[in-house]
Amino acid sequence: MLTINNVTKTYTKHGMTFKALDGITFRVEKGDFTVVVGPSGSGKSTLLHTIGGLIRPGSGQVLFKGTDIYKLNNDALNNYRKKNVGFVFQQFHLVPWLTVYENVRLVCQATSCIKAINDYFDKSGLLPLRNKYPSELSVGEKQRTAFIRAIISNPELLLADEPTGNLDPQNAAILMDMTRDFHKAGGTVLLVSHSPETSTYAGKRIILGSGKIL
Ligand SMILES: Nc1ncnc2c1ncn2[C@@H]1O[C@H](COP(=O)(O)OP(=O)(O)OP(=O)(O)O)[C@@H](O)[C@H]1O
Ligand SMILES: [Mg+2]
Repeated sequence: MLTINNVTKTYTKHGMTFKALDGITFRVEKGDFTVVVGPSGSGKSTLLHTIGGLIRPGSGQVLFKGTDIYKLNNDALNNYRKKNVGFVFQQFHLVPWLTVYENVRLVCQATSCIKAINDYFDKSGLLPLRNKYPSELSVGEKQRTAFIRAIISNPELLLADEPTGNLDPQNAAILMDMTRDFHKAGGTVLLVSHSPETSTYAGKRIILGSGKIL
């Protein structure tokens, strides 16, 4: 489903260059559950953004079902992001002027998706918070909203950047159960997580260190 081929990403700041990704190559098959681990600054978020069509690599290719996503025109790349990928950002990126419900509703096209919202809210304890704005939420509540927004439209590929990083064990378990259900229903998962439980469940583990696969 995904082929990451010799991907590099260099950041330049004040004339200094820094290789955040340094020749990353791996494959993700449909139905895989892959976890990415590695110390802070090792390139995990950069890698996920690159796969999600959000950061163009300096060199190398990201192939989704054989198509290099960075060779697509802007509309087609947007479509890839919208239709194929659910992304849970490490910093959530909720729309501040929309309520919890509206943030999730935004990504729903199908009636079945809209109908599923309250069910997901109920499972994750967000139902009483549905009319609140992101600024009125705790960090864990924002994280749960961001997670449901990513999963609600049943994307082919779920990219999640430490989706349980700010949650208490009970809420983390609820989100991991939802991720497992998504996976069991045929979804493909690539997630950054340091939780040992997640690592045990994952079929594959990628260890990053200084922008390289170790
Ligand atoms: N926009 C940017 N400009 C310059 N350097 C950046 C930028 N974004 C990330 N970096 C650098 O690239 C490296 C990789 O960052 P990245 O966010 O991918 O790490 P990470 O593994 O996700 O870390 P964490 O576990 O803390 O989230 C870091 O050293 C970071 O300082
Ligand atoms: Mg990160």
